[in-house]
Amino acid sequence: MATLADQNQDFSVLPDLPADVFTAPLRKPAHVGDDWIEPAQTQYDAAEDAIWNDLYERQMDVLPGRAASAFIAGLQKLPLGQRGVPDFNELSEELGHLTGWSVVPVPMLIPDHVFFWHLANRRFPAGNFIRTRETFDYIQEPDVFHDVFGHVPMLADPVYADYMQEYGRAGWKAMRYNRLKALGALYWYTVEFGLILEGPSDVRAYGAGILSGPTEAVFSTEAKSPNRIMLNVDRVMRTDYVISDLQPTYFVIESFEDLYHQTVERDFDRLYRNLPPAFTYANAAVIDVDDVLHRGTQEYLLRGGRGSGAKPI
Ligand SMILES: [Fe+2]
Repeated sequence: MATLADQNQDFSVLPDLPADVFTAPLRKPAHVGDDWIEPAQTQYDAAEDAIWNDLYERQMDVLPGRAASAFIAGLQKLPLGQRGVPDFNELSEELGHLTGWSVVPVPMLIPDHVFFWHLANRRFPAGNFIRTRETFDYIQEPDVFHDVFGHVPMLADPVYADYMQEYGRAGWKAMRYNRLKALGALYWYTVEFGLILEGPSDVRAYGAGILSGPTEAVFSTEAKSPNRIMLNVDRVMRTDYVISDLQPTYFVIESFEDLYHQTVERDFDRLYRNLPPAFTYANAAVIDVDDVLHRGTQEYLLRGGRGSGAKPI
């Protein structure tokens, strides 16, 4: 059966990067090996633990009613809360009982093929540092709060946990077709900025990029500005995205089973063969094949977005 990932691949070994595949040039720090895993988790001091606690409190003011039920359930099942930065060993033990996943510390953003390899083996790489008070609202690189608070609760959901592993396994095939950018767009619009429909007009967030910040949790689910469109994998993989501002478009799934069927159980060889090497659709566009839940006014984007002082909501 043709699927998202190659079925005969040995996923236990780190894949070689094909020579013609473009990946971000990252310099590996001397103290980590080829797996990029840190020898130990950072020992955080009281001031750093207080940053975690304050970030946690700020999110819990906005997330009830806006975060996916699966996210809230995961948060309650795991040792995450206002007890400072969680201990990864403790967290991995609990998560291991639930879905077989673990959390490993990494120094920074890691190369795509190493990231895929960890996911394919149910290891979630998380930043081994926390933001400062000065960068409390916006960070360039994902820190431990984004990675652990944003991503890990969803890994307690069995179907989502399987999707994440399959996503990692899919990396090999995407590299073979040189379509990492397209697979990256799928990650962006699901794992980072995905929404789920929990009732006729009840849109909730399950994407970590939304759940780890206060503004986008409200903007993505309630604001008039962005488009909210039902997920269509072919379309999403042709769509550009913004890295440093709120998204002009969010894609919505019906359920995690729906997400799994749309991705893991379809023919990605055919999809990659038909995909152009660059993105086709602008990130604010609504196109004729879209099943539109809400057509955004794009007023935030039109006023100039971040940097212009435009109010998101
Ligand atoms: Fe993330």
